[in-house]
Amino acid sequence: MSRMVNPIQHNPTSAPTSLATPLPNQPSTTPALKVAVLVSGNGSNLQVLIDAMQAGELPIHIVGVISNNKDAYAVSRATNADIDTAVLSHITADHALHGENIGKRMGIKTFERHALQQLNQWQPDLIVLAGFMRVLSSDFINQVPAPMINLHPSLLPKYKGLDTHQRVLDAADAQHGCSVHIVTAELDAGTVLTQAVLLVNGQQSAEALQSRVQQLEHQILPWTVLLIAKGVLDVAQLKADAATPSYLPSLPLKLWLDV
Ligand code: GRF
Repeated sequence: MSRMVNPIQHNPTSAPTSLATPLPNQPSTTPALKVAVLVSGNGSNLQVLIDAMQAGELPIHIVGVISNNKDAYAVSRATNADIDTAVLSHITADHALHGENIGKRMGIKTFERHALQQLNQWQPDLIVLAGFMRVLSSDFINQVPAPMINLHPSLLPKYKGLDTHQRVLDAADAQHGCSVHIVTAELDAGTVLTQAVLLVNGQQSAEALQSRVQQLEHQILPWTVLLIAKGVLDVAQLKADAATPSYLPSLPLKLWLDV
């Protein structure tokens, strides 16, 4: 059950979990990585993380989900899984500085202020942007209490920004896919950790291509989170020092998938 806390719709269903909390299907020494997820829409990628976590396949604990859209289906997915949710979409009576702001959509600065407050409360080890559709400020990115990764529907550095599938078709690219990268102040430009790649069928519509890429996303995101949770990818270290480790394959790690 959820209760409302203005302007955050807060659903404090799960008890705080410490880093040392063992998972049901994990050895007692394996700590769960505390993950916060930011969403804006359908939340199919969030669902994959929830399902993998519940199946004991991912040593993570999703400490909370933040949505900038009150109608996002992702919010229902989180609530159904008894995960804390914070919906930061509109200015409410309690937080409006002036009466005329009541009920207005939150600006990005207001969103970021409340999101930061919420993240500091949850204290995640990792923040995942999974279909989060607003551009975040460098102030916010520099202040969040954990490394942040983003799922992007292209093979970065190609096709930063929106409308990636149509742009791939227009360019007649042979390959397309998706990337998980570290979030930095420059849009879609942080170190790319992993990519999933497919062969483009030039006869397909952008919608059909998007649907194939989504199937890749549903594998690359949990795989990347697993690599982070297991310490194979150290995002904080990579952020501090972009140098490639000399004895390991260089980043991004790639999955070739046939979908
Ligand atoms: C994904 O295609 C992702 O690449 C893009 O937004 C979409 C989110 O899908 N950034 P969902 O909300 O996880 O279903």
